[in-house]
Amino acid sequence: PAPGWSVAADVVVIGSGVAGLTAALRCEAAGLKTVVVTKARLDAGSTRWAQGGIAAALGEGDTPEQHLDDTLVAGAGLCDEEAVRLLVTEGPDAVRRLISTGARFDTDDEGGIELTREGGHHRRRIAHAGGDATGAEISRALVEAVRARGLRTVENALVLDLLTDAEGRAAGVTLHVMGEGQHDGVGAVHAPAVVLATGGMGQVFAATTNPSVSTGDGVALALRAGAEVSDLEFVQFHPTVLFLGPDAEGQQPLVSEAVRGEGAHLVDADGVRFMVGQHELAELAPRDIVAKGIMRRMREQGAEHMYLDARHFGAQMWEHRFPTILAACRAHGIDPVTEPVPVAPAAHYASGGVRTDSHGRTTVPGLYACGEVACTGVHGANRLASNSLLEGLVYAERIAADIAAAHAAHGLTARVPATVPYPEKPAHPLFAAQDRFAIQRIMTDGAGVLRSEGSLRKAAERLERLAADARERLEEHGKTPEPGVDTWETTNLLLVSRVLVAAALLREETRGCHWREDHAGRDDTAWRRHVVVRLNPDRS
Ligand code: SIN
Repeated sequence: PAPGWSVAADVVVIGSGVAGLTAALRCEAAGLKTVVVTKARLDAGSTRWAQGGIAAALGEGDTPEQHLDDTLVAGAGLCDEEAVRLLVTEGPDAVRRLISTGARFDTDDEGGIELTREGGHHRRRIAHAGGDATGAEISRALVEAVRARGLRTVENALVLDLLTDAEGRAAGVTLHVMGEGQHDGVGAVHAPAVVLATGGMGQVFAATTNPSVSTGDGVALALRAGAEVSDLEFVQFHPTVLFLGPDAEGQQPLVSEAVRGEGAHLVDADGVRFMVGQHELAELAPRDIVAKGIMRRMREQGAEHMYLDARHFGAQMWEHRFPTILAACRAHGIDPVTEPVPVAPAAHYASGGVRTDSHGRTTVPGLYACGEVACTGVHGANRLASNSLLEGLVYAERIAADIAAAHAAHGLTARVPATVPYPEKPAHPLFAAQDRFAIQRIMTDGAGVLRSEGSLRKAAERLERLAADARERLEEHGKTPEPGVDTWETTNLLLVSRVLVAAALLREETRGCHWREDHAGRDDTAWRRHVVVRLNPDRS
């Protein structure tokens, strides 16, 4: 069947975080007809939740070279050095352009940008806004700019699949739009350039810092379209997430690394600073090392969490520097001014994603990716703290420049979709919304911070059984859940979970944020390489 409605543009950007809106604004400024599509509201994605800030060599005495060194160390041998070099050299000017777009960062007494520290950074290099509300300020500035420029936006629209022409080039996307009156139902944006900026997949796990919209939709679309996806096994677990109980589910409150950057201590129930002596940077070691340190101590002591102690900040500093975190803790009955904060690791960031080159081009012509959904090679096996907002910014600008250059050279030719996978009759079974919780439990049990062949095999089998049950329901009883946002999200979660588990099983070593209990060491002989996955587009 034909879609209910369709829109034509030069560029369609899917997602409205720092990467998506930057790409859209730069494309529009280059004279390209640009449409932004987003699953919920323009500010509902992960960008708004970013606390610590955005890393760039802006401070006196700091250089892109030092930023590069810290990024490569955190990435544990798997960063693409050229990709990192582009990030750190173009980063400072990209941040200045963000300021010109309207973002207001916190300043010091001389009016310069105030910088803080986070794990893995040997210098104060993190610009922040509103104390610990950096992402909210960036999101505000970009959304306002998009509205002021009159860009066309479609909210409440879940992207489904890539449309391609007869030569396999991107020709647009299909969408499921809900609650928008005239646009309700299935629709399409036809465009010869498609930019995926759909964010992460933290909702694959039971407890995550990610909002509920982070369901891996972009990676799932790319997999179904036959694009290459890389490094999915490298899921970063943030070390200090407010511990709300062992069965806490969904989005959990983050306690920024910047709290440690300003001098908070990680302690056990006896008040011992267990990171001291484990790494020269102690609590400010790269994120994977701190998460492992916490997990080890929890195991040794049979504890469910550790503590972050910043009582010495005093009330004034807490209120001025970390108002968001203070309010979140107090809302849960914990007062960081007078007591240590219970913390434990939770899923935070996908270091891998849709594989791109240095212009953000994926392996499908005309399909680009930037931000958390992408794997540009910048993060390697473990993203350095606060490099993600910067990556979204820098690579979105590179994508816009590439699309604009292609347009100037030979025009952007509208593509006629050869295949029209409108999902009133999905080609493969959709999964019921209630399967979401089962997937999240399976992934947390088997593919969380600690993994082994046994745990991963069990996770793979349980995921396969879920998929087989759905196929059986369809084949034997002709039953499949109604297409809708919940069922599509669950379908996407299942697909990315299966690929993530397969990649984690394959990598028989411990590196960066991939921690295999049965392969404790890093194996540079066999494993200084990437796991790249490409599905046959005809398979579900
Ligand atoms: C934080 O504020 O700790 C998060 C920073 C990041 O994930 O880069």
